[in-house]
Amino acid sequence: MMHQHPLTASAPAKLILCGEHAVVYGCPAIALPLADVRAVATVAAGQQGEGLRLVAPDLNEAWGVHEQPTNPLSELALTVAAQLGLGQADLTITLRSQIPLASGMGSGAAIATALVRTLTQYAGQEWDADRIAALVYASEQRFHGTPSGIDNTVVAHERAIWFERRSPKPLIEPLTIGAPFTLVVGDTGVRSATHLPVGAVRTAWQADPVHYETLFAGVALLVSQARSALAKGDSATLGGLLNQNQALLEQIGVSSPELERLIHAARQAGALGAKLSGAGWGGIMLALAHPTQAATIAAALCEAGAVRVLTTVVG
Ligand code: MEV
Repeated sequence: MMHQHPLTASAPAKLILCGEHAVVYGCPAIALPLADVRAVATVAAGQQGEGLRLVAPDLNEAWGVHEQPTNPLSELALTVAAQLGLGQADLTITLRSQIPLASGMGSGAAIATALVRTLTQYAGQEWDADRIAALVYASEQRFHGTPSGIDNTVVAHERAIWFERRSPKPLIEPLTIGAPFTLVVGDTGVRSATHLPVGAVRTAWQADPVHYETLFAGVALLVSQARSALAKGDSATLGGLLNQNQALLEQIGVSSPELERLIHAARQAGALGAKLSGAGWGGIMLALAHPTQAATIAAALCEAGAVRVLTTVVG
């Protein structure tokens, strides 16, 4: 049944706990949804003859998908509308997001997922997470080069996952979390589009595959150990593994002075471990905290220049 009234759907931000970049080369990574920070899409009947329109009030932008068919969101909206039998419909889809752009929190995947969810709801259909993730992945792949697929997967599944890029389908496993743990996330405020560091790592890997594959193997090992630590609720071990991951990410070449300032501040303030999260060169870092230390670490991150700090409890 098609709906006559505006319908809203949303999708969460994400955090990569460990394994970013190496995951593009087939190594495992662990990702978590951030349920409280979301992108929201609303669909309502549009003016007759207008077709599909996308409105992004936060960016002060509005466009008809046929006017900008190569825009990634236009293309995704057209593909999804065609599959839902809404190809000829006059609909206005409004996109809003609490997730800072190009920050490592998966804003692109969340906006795209919210868009697909709202259209499927409008058409009275329920698509499973894998179908939605695959559509968002195809869109990201066309416009961002070689994503691993972890962002769209964790956003669509909305649960903590173990992820391995595999052909023809990724391996996605739900994670066991033995005891809740607290993360403090600090945003450097430096925006960095994912495909830039991802492309730089590819160039560096092509120039010296043996060195890079050794680094990736180190990441893969610590991600496996992190999975066991999570299952046991062993925060001390997990913290050490996050620090090891940061050291490898620095060698991979995706850290930055701003990230390292925040990571250092978090560790000085008592974090059990801290690392950049996402593609790097800017964006966010995360720190594993004893619940009693979280406020002190958050204050230290602000003091060290974080433009935004949030604390989340996982599990
Ligand atoms: C970005 O959130 C994670 C990266 O590993 C890229 C990807 O997996 O597509 C840097």
